[in-house]
Amino acid sequence: MAFTTFLLDFVRRFSFSFGNQLAHVTTYTRELPINLDRMYENAIDWEHLPFLHSSSFSHIEVIESGDWGWKAKANLTPKSRFNSMVLELRLDKSKNRWITKTLSGLGKGTEIWTHAIPIEKNKIKVIVDFYVPKLPSFLKDKYASLYSAQYAQLYDEDLWMMASRQEQLDKLAKAKTTAIQTELSLGKLSEVQANLPLKFEFNHQSYRLIEMGDTLIAHTLSCPHMLGPLNDADVKEGILECPWHGYQFDLKTRKCISGQRCKLAPAPLIKIDTNKMEVVALAAKG
Ligand code: FES
Ligand SMILES: [Fe+2]
Repeated sequence: MAFTTFLLDFVRRFSFSFGNQLAHVTTYTRELPINLDRMYENAIDWEHLPFLHSSSFSHIEVIESGDWGWKAKANLTPKSRFNSMVLELRLDKSKNRWITKTLSGLGKGTEIWTHAIPIEKNKIKVIVDFYVPKLPSFLKDKYASLYSAQYAQLYDEDLWMMASRQEQLDKLAKAKTTAIQTELSLGKLSEVQANLPLKFEFNHQSYRLIEMGDTLIAHTLSCPHMLGPLNDADVKEGILECPWHGYQFDLKTRKCISGQRCKLAPAPLIKIDTNKMEVVALAAKG
């Protein structure tokens, strides 16, 4: 994908063409079963590009960011000096839209205008228009299919993130209104050991039981940053990495070790009832 993009951009820039005007290349539309809050949150979240969209972006370095949007230096995948670019995204909630511009590098001058229209409580429609400067007509179809395919994939990935986050937020809201259970049997020790890593639900939260050294410990399956799923994150030397923005956590201390200010939520304490040879989860304190 990155090489095709580079090649197309090279041909475009060196093709003979009148003027510098932006040509409308294509429109991508899609209905998404999420609300506008999740969509806006996703648009201004520059950090997820090289993690959630790792097959499209390999690197990002923010220059400035805020509620207005962000400006960052990014690279396509695989990273090379030929596919770096400075991108700027500006969100305008009053017009239900954000505009992404390529300020320099690969695809300089390209603009992508996205409108997000609420249809129902948890349903929106996104309408994405792509504009490319100095586009010779013989390249228009190539650009159109490239953008459509890339945005279909980006929105598949974003939808996974936005829908899972909403599910986690709903679960948290529900947990606040129900009574706390103090302990939960996870089963016979031999069966539990045979089924590790073992996922379980306790007080409306999801956890995973793993073995570290010769100790059984539980950890939350919800990342403290934006509730990303830690379900399938590999644990290497007691460290796991969240798939959405790459924050890393030490499971023993629960601390974030990749530099961000957050910490894993406490998980239930794991006790082995030696009389019954049973594994029991006890509600965490604080
Ligand atoms: S949700 Fe952002 S790093 Fe986990
Ligand atoms: Fe995204």
